[in-house]
Amino acid sequence: MEKKAKQKIKALIEQINDHNYAYYVLDDPKLTDMEYDHLFRQLEDIEAKYPNLISPTSPSQRVGHPVSSGFQSYNHDVPMLSLSNAINSSEINEFHKRVLKWLNHADTDFVAEPKIDGLGVSLIYRNGLLERALTRGDGFQGEDITHNVKTMPSVPLKLRDLENSPPPFIEVRGEIFMSISDFKKLNVNRKKANEKIFANARNAAAGSVRQLDPSITASRNLSIFCYEVGGSDKINFKNQIEMLSYLKSVGLPVNPLSKKVTNGNDMVLYHQTLEENRSHINYEIDGSVIKVNDYNLRGRLGLRARSPRWAIAAKFKAKQAESQLLGIDLQVGRTGVITPVAKIKEVDLSGVMISSATLHNQDEIDRKDIRINDFILIERSGDVIPKIFKVLKEKRPINAKKFFISDFRCSDTSCKIERIKDQAAYRCVNVNCKSKVLGMLEHFCSKNAMNIEGMGPQIVKQLLEENLLKNFDDIYRLKYDDLVALERFKDKSAMNLINAINHSKKTTFPRFLFGLGIPNVGQHISKVIDKYCNSSLIKLSELKIEDMEEIDGIGSTVAIAIENYFKNDKNNEIVNNCLKLGVQITPTHFDESDMTMLNQKIVITGSFQSLSRSDLKLRLEKNGATVTSNISNKTTALIVGEKPGSKLTKAQNLNVKIVYEKELHDFLDEN
Ligand code: IVH
Repeated sequence: MEKKAKQKIKALIEQINDHNYAYYVLDDPKLTDMEYDHLFRQLEDIEAKYPNLISPTSPSQRVGHPVSSGFQSYNHDVPMLSLSNAINSSEINEFHKRVLKWLNHADTDFVAEPKIDGLGVSLIYRNGLLERALTRGDGFQGEDITHNVKTMPSVPLKLRDLENSPPPFIEVRGEIFMSISDFKKLNVNRKKANEKIFANARNAAAGSVRQLDPSITASRNLSIFCYEVGGSDKINFKNQIEMLSYLKSVGLPVNPLSKKVTNGNDMVLYHQTLEENRSHINYEIDGSVIKVNDYNLRGRLGLRARSPRWAIAAKFKAKQAESQLLGIDLQVGRTGVITPVAKIKEVDLSGVMISSATLHNQDEIDRKDIRINDFILIERSGDVIPKIFKVLKEKRPINAKKFFISDFRCSDTSCKIERIKDQAAYRCVNVNCKSKVLGMLEHFCSKNAMNIEGMGPQIVKQLLEENLLKNFDDIYRLKYDDLVALERFKDKSAMNLINAINHSKKTTFPRFLFGLGIPNVGQHISKVIDKYCNSSLIKLSELKIEDMEEIDGIGSTVAIAIENYFKNDKNNEIVNNCLKLGVQITPTHFDESDMTMLNQKIVITGSFQSLSRSDLKLRLEKNGATVTSNISNKTTALIVGEKPGSKLTKAQNLNVKIVYEKELHDFLDEN
């Protein structure tokens, strides 16, 4: 009986995998959805009867359990670089000429591919089995998203049977994306369910991949195209075309629009044709990628700091649409800076409904001569918020009205708007400005700061209007009775919010410091200071400008802002009150096993071939090192790139260890 079941399971898995291959890789499905569902149900039924026969690579095992510990980070064996850009035809031609020159005019052909606007991913297969999937991250280290990638039926859990056995190791790179039609459907459903809609398909794909619960990812219909191999064992490819056809043969989807091109004209033609056909493609692309085909020649060309010399990303022009400016809203941020926001007649900009656009400041309004009621051309490139490209002056209506931020009158009569000295921006100078306080409190409660679930902008506003909140410490004075008496609060929601507030009290130093909203003290700076202060708020409040300027990455603006903040008694009182009311900072534990450079104080000088200074700094900091800007007798090593400055001599005089670029990777690995 069991033998029969085993055979049946094997046959069903083969049929399901064949279907996935025909559907996702060959784009030539042989079964209807109903037939497929039927096979799947048959498989689930037999597996339910014989749980001991369930194989980890069975299609029924794609959706596993939620991960509870968040996303774990792993180093990429080979860094995931990015691409340098070409923004027009002549830059594409220049790339072609440059490559030929570097290669002494060797016979070279290229492969042109669509540049998918999704999320870069690395898939690691060991002996043909999907072992791990990582995000690109910072290029050196990515997050483990295996549990979610496994839910994608287009990603084989096991590489397809080959004539030869699978390679012991292969790391495949590609782009995860959501099709435009799936993105639209998802947003319609989210709107119905009163959930926040995604701004574009890329964000929807990113949000779907970064889920702790794989069943959510499974419901999102993500797709993938693979386009490179990062590293492999016992399998070598001669060129890109051979590699792409191998990926396809083992069941990995590759883009059908890739094409061999041989000269600059071909490249430009491919790029332009792709751009013209962009609106007929059911996934977002933001350009074309042109790559040298031959892998030996790629090796000769080598790498720049962050990108290979053998490829270029040719970008499309920004998408544009016509609309009308209905009005300008002024938003007062938590620092009082006023940002004008254009409210426009809703318009469809390649599938995304747009009703507002950024307007940086009064200077932009003046320079572009933007008037209310004007007909305008808006544009949006990639992920950025749309902006007004230009005013269609020939269509200017007679009721077009000029706009001046300084004319704005706030409903709070104590508010006063002033232009910031030497800047184009305006700021509200009223310390008690309601919008400012609202912004500050919203920021304090937000996800990356104290992360008080349920304390969103609407609730903060309500509590402010009810005079229950004035400053951060008041949050910890809120009581169930205060909340339940308010409109829109019920027993359960009041209880939930109190629980969330209590829950947030156990926090970390970077979250608390970031939450205080000190100008220019963002998440990264907060983490740097955490390490410097050993998570001590007392040490933080006593920091002097000179101390802080010692730390690399902390300039005088940040140092002055922090010192000023704690010079103010009121601020000290609020911080102390938070602590008295139960806020508890858990000292950051720098895991010794990851933080192998914890006691190192490193200085960098010069520039590097294999990585940028900022990436190097990030990597050192991730290992626990403190990167400082000046050599002193506390410095443990100086990393030296090309064209080093005077730091090299100083380090030699002080007998500081010197690490040159050729030793850099060993140094990083050893530590
Ligand atoms: S090749 C060494 N090919 O674009 C470069 N990248 O800015 C390896 N991308 O991080 C990348 N479509 O996430 C390559 N056909 C394609 C691509 C592609 C999209 C993304 C990728 C990469 C970014 C480069």
